[in-house]
Amino acid sequence: MSKLIAGKLWLAPLAGYTDQGFRRIAKDWGADVLVSEMVSSDGLVRDSRKTIQYILFTESERPYGIQLFGSNALIMAKAVEFCLQFEPDFIDLNMGCPVKKVVKRGAGSALMQNQELAGSIVKESVRASAGILPISVKFRSGWDNSSINYLDFGRLMQDSGASFVCLHPRTQKQMFSGLSNWEHIAYLKKHITIPVIGNGDICSPEDAIRMRQETSCDAMMIGRGALGRPWLFSQCKQLLTTGTYDPMLQKDLVNTVLKHVEYALMHKPEHVVVREMRSHMCFYTKGMVGGAELRRRINRAESAVELKDIITNQHFV
Ligand SMILES: Cc1cc2nc3c(=O)[nH]c(=O)nc-3n(C[C@H](O)[C@H](O)[C@H](O)COP(=O)(O)O)c2cc1C
Repeated sequence: MSKLIAGKLWLAPLAGYTDQGFRRIAKDWGADVLVSEMVSSDGLVRDSRKTIQYILFTESERPYGIQLFGSNALIMAKAVEFCLQFEPDFIDLNMGCPVKKVVKRGAGSALMQNQELAGSIVKESVRASAGILPISVKFRSGWDNSSINYLDFGRLMQDSGASFVCLHPRTQKQMFSGLSNWEHIAYLKKHITIPVIGNGDICSPEDAIRMRQETSCDAMMIGRGALGRPWLFSQCKQLLTTGTYDPMLQKDLVNTVLKHVEYALMHKPEHVVVREMRSHMCFYTKGMVGGAELRRRINRAESAVELKDIITNQHFV
């Protein structure tokens, strides 16, 4: 467990972004723990051939966890059993996703309103993991402002056998708006005994210091802040350990993007990589002088060679 907790910096699961290519880049820049994006337990159990691509990983990504979502305890348990053959380091259960197509099936953050089911999903998953893997749960502050129940929920997760939890302190209704309420992380940490991973709005190394100080959380998870800026992990680590950190250099940026493309090509066909890199490039080029023109060129690129040429030669500053 110490390889997962004890002050570690996690890359948050981000559906559509944290595939193997981005995870490996984040790892190169110091992310300690990686997680798959959320994977449907129904999909894994019904048609694993299609869904399996979302859970695959390489040894270099360890420690690595698979995140599952669903709303049926027995199917979740079957999905956990299925995942055991891949030998991840842990399995995380998603009880925080706010998006409509997930909550309308009773999964993600809808489970915060159905504690009995949430508890049995954790118990069945723990049973299915047969003590081989830790089971963790990622959840939110509650459904809306009038039903903030993260503390009860955290206690339930602990009593049901979760090894640790991650709190993103916004409500389902908030989606991603407003600020996350770090007081909830601090309060949860004080009142449960299993480790608490703090998540939400770490966008700079200074934010990481502040979250650690204000919440005493056991580990921290970074999501959107690392998009287009995977070096944030290394800067956070540097600031946490030495009190200062190195600025990002232009050559590091170019090398990072080129390597990201290379990693992506190791796991996906070229046309998919060229298409998917467009959304990453929006983040890498954010705020750049001439960024809009650069993005237009990148969006027109039809091959990896063309993409890499633009990145290498086209005033990527
Ligand atoms: C595009 C996007 C996709 C996400 N996908 C997932 C997911 O698959 N599983 C999950 O638990 N959370 C998911 N999240 C939530 C993040 O993991 C994280 O909890 C949230 O973004 C707050 O952290 P941040 O402020 O560091 O981004 C997603 C968020 C975004 C913006």
